[in-house]
Amino acid sequence: MQKQVILITGTPCVGKTTTSKLLTEKLSAEYINLTEYVKVNNLTLGEDKQRQTTIVNEKALTEKLAETIVQLEKENIVVDGHFAASVTPADLVDYVFVLRRNPKELKQLMLKSGFSESKIYENLAAEILDTCLVEALQTQKNVCEIDVTGKNVENVVKEIVDALDNPKKCVSGFVDWLGLLENEGLTDEYLKI
Ligand SMILES: Nc1ncnc2c1ncn2[C@@H]1O[C@H](COP(=O)(O)OP(=O)(O)OP(=O)(O)O)[C@@H](O)[C@H]1O
Ligand SMILES: [Mg+2]
Repeated sequence: MQKQVILITGTPCVGKTTTSKLLTEKLSAEYINLTEYVKVNNLTLGEDKQRQTTIVNEKALTEKLAETIVQLEKENIVVDGHFAASVTPADLVDYVFVLRRNPKELKQLMLKSGFSESKIYENLAAEILDTCLVEALQTQKNVCEIDVTGKNVENVVKEIVDALDNPKKCVSGFVDWLGLLENEGLTDEYLKI
């Protein structure tokens, strides 16, 4: 396998960091967690108090990230972050994996992780409406979706490595949480926007 730059994206709490760390180990890669990278490199513009989130200086982040990736050109690099697709220059990226999780399971994980109610519904809407997938498809090539629902991290990483070895396994467009919730009469309970 050639040296590659791999983005791991997906809705907050979907399992990006857990997955990225094991993938990093398996590929002997460099690991970049964008949340930490933004803090360490002081790439913030301030806080959005209402949305309980940090405002990232995306232009500065893109420039700095490009510099780092070019410097590490002889290494596999795993970039972990829900905005990885929109801030990493596409010409430097080989594959984008969008992790997807059934909203029912995602809600349980967010509750366990102590997310506020408003964050839970903001993130559930993003997952149900394919926000990270759409962003990846608009900005990058080789976008692969991985449905991580009910899978342990070893199996998720195995699927990613399989897709890297066999690009035919890199597919997207098969996840339909909206359809699934509609079938179960749960749309109003999960999609509050
Ligand atoms: N495959 C998995 N199976 C079960 N639980 C998982 C799995 N992957 C991650 N988790 C759990 O889900 C929670 C969120 O995982 P993680 O921190 O990796 O998500 P994240 O996408 O990086 O979140 P954030 O966007 O907030 O950084 C953690 O409690 C973690 O232990
Ligand atoms: Mg994370």
